[in-house]
Amino acid sequence: MTQLSAAQTGTPGSSSGGKTLYGGKGTRRITVRDIALAKERGEKWPMLTAYDAMTASVFDEAGIPVMLVGDSAGNCHLGYDTTVPVTLDEMTMLAAAVVRGTSRALIVGDLPFGSYQEGPVQALRSATRLVKEAGVGAVKLEGGERSHRQIELLVESGIPVMAHIGLTPQSVNAMGYRVQGRGEEAAQQLLRDAKAVQDAGAFAVVLELVPAELAAEVTRTLHIPTVGIGAGPETDAQVLVWTDMLGLTGGRVPKFVKQYANLRDVMTGAAKAFAEDVVAGSFPQEEHSVH
Ligand code: KIV
Repeated sequence: MTQLSAAQTGTPGSSSGGKTLYGGKGTRRITVRDIALAKERGEKWPMLTAYDAMTASVFDEAGIPVMLVGDSAGNCHLGYDTTVPVTLDEMTMLAAAVVRGTSRALIVGDLPFGSYQEGPVQALRSATRLVKEAGVGAVKLEGGERSHRQIELLVESGIPVMAHIGLTPQSVNAMGYRVQGRGEEAAQQLLRDAKAVQDAGAFAVVLELVPAELAAEVTRTLHIPTVGIGAGPETDAQVLVWTDMLGLTGGRVPKFVKQYANLRDVMTGAAKAFAEDVVAGSFPQEEHSVH
């Protein structure tokens, strides 16, 4: 009898013997089913943003199981002030690069502002581009109750959806960058939003900048995983913007960010050392020359 491959048996990381989402190099990509099983096991998992193939390949090798090609690319990669100007063409190009640079992580592509707000049909058309042209395994969109019809149609059409509630940066012009869900009424709305996206079929929901106690309550209430950013320690997963996490972002970073390295200092130091070598005529030397 033919042996079933890991891809057929559905075991992430089985080439390295591990069944957890984090860690090891698997023989197939993580799927949304693996994410659901992790919630059943009570396993916490990390997610990072990525916007290019090379950075994504580093995170893939490090065992990060889910990568978000976030529209934070607007601020962190493309030089815009907010996420609002990011286009679907730009997201498709960035997401395709991240998919090419990875072999294990589930890649989630963000639907940018203006690509799904008109309604479910527009959302399906936009999400289909990210799936067909970029090859992502899931898409993300912002909004709770207000986006439930979009989520329903995408899920019915076979496109897994990660929802995003709390602070939704695409609405910066309406809500600013403020903590969401403070006070009884706002907390009840956040709970309604969380249930709405779960009922619509989302496989996970990002909770951005909400009080830790409320995020914990949402996490206990939902059967789908919650992914926190500025939402305290009780969510099922945690996401950070990679340029914040590795200290590449210039200026102030939000309080909820933990910096695990200071790439800005490392890169500035290296660029200056190179420039000084060139100015002094000490680079290139014999070992860097061809004859
Ligand atoms: O675009 C993004 O990076 C995001 C995360 C902050 C969740 O939406």
